[in-house]
Amino acid sequence: MAKPIAIEVYNPNGKYRVVSTKSMPGTRWINLLIEQDCRVEICTQKKTILSVEDIIALIGDKCDGVIGQLTEDWGETLFAALSRAGGKAFSNMAVGYNNVDVNAANKHGVAVGNTPGVLTETTAELAASLSLAAARRIVESDQFMRAGLYDGWLPHLFVGNLLKGQTVGVIGAGRIGSAYARMMVEGFKMNLIYYDLYQSTRLEKFVTAYGEFLKANGEQPVTWKRAASMDEVLREADVISLHPILDKTTYHLINKESLATMKKEAILINCSRGPVVDEVALVEHLKQNPMFRVGLDVFEDEPYMKPGLADMKNAVVVPHIASASKWTREGMATLAALNVLGKIKGYPVWGDANRVEPFLNENAPPPAASPSIVNSKALGLPVSKL
Ligand code: GLV
Repeated sequence: MAKPIAIEVYNPNGKYRVVSTKSMPGTRWINLLIEQDCRVEICTQKKTILSVEDIIALIGDKCDGVIGQLTEDWGETLFAALSRAGGKAFSNMAVGYNNVDVNAANKHGVAVGNTPGVLTETTAELAASLSLAAARRIVESDQFMRAGLYDGWLPHLFVGNLLKGQTVGVIGAGRIGSAYARMMVEGFKMNLIYYDLYQSTRLEKFVTAYGEFLKANGEQPVTWKRAASMDEVLREADVISLHPILDKTTYHLINKESLATMKKEAILINCSRGPVVDEVALVEHLKQNPMFRVGLDVFEDEPYMKPGLADMKNAVVVPHIASASKWTREGMATLAALNVLGKIKGYPVWGDANRVEPFLNENAPPPAASPSIVNSKALGLPVSKL
């Protein structure tokens, strides 16, 4: 018989059983659930990625809702198990939900939540950090110091790229891509080129106004351009940051051919999803082009890196931490819990998933709504009028 999975229980006599497959930052999310008569069970098993079998065991015979993680495979098997246990809701503690088969959830009438709006700036800040770390060779220099190799200032020591006046390219100018673009334009006075199926009027207006401000102050103005193709961005930009969602159309968007169109000294940043980049082709490109640099938060086969990547000095790699600020992670936990709670209680879905501040205000009770349900239309869920 399979060993039972370790759990921690809060409010054991609560009417609704809500399972979280991981311990999550903060306590507000737990308190909000308890206040609404939920028994909260948190998996404490010492295993980073839970299998489908582990999660089936956690769901058990009676479960009203589950808060899960982007590392889990939420497909037909889990939604069938959740629905058999009487479950009505699942929420990823993430904005991305490429680990969730939404059609399977629809089939079983399970609402699927995600957590947009709270991680935009935090994620964009990591993309900006990786851009700087790659441009100024911070990680290589740090390793050099710690290895005791520094024996005095030298003109050629760790020479990198100046960002000011160069062009930042953004592929996917949605919430996070636009926030990153603004940081790089405003912070480092870079010119912007972006590619997106939709025009980002707010972003364009911002860069125009900032350019005018600089000009009025006797400085070189910044400029923007909406590219007609992704290739145009790859050819022209000095720093390129990827912000698309992962689906069939964006799988290996960056591959051997597209890498070849980029400048030899370009910097590529990926804080979206690993499979957007063909990592084998990237390793080869890094080997062939030592001045090309990359900053990666995500990997094709997480938690693994493709062979050779870890040896590349021109790669900065971090373990999928783009949303990892305290405020954001606590907020994500709160939103995920409220997505599940809202469905259990029969609340409507919040009208604008980008404006989630009312749910994050710790000094007031959250609105009686689920902040973000991605399949609300398919399930015909009512929308809040608030
Ligand atoms: C993190 O990668 C997220 O999608 O929230």
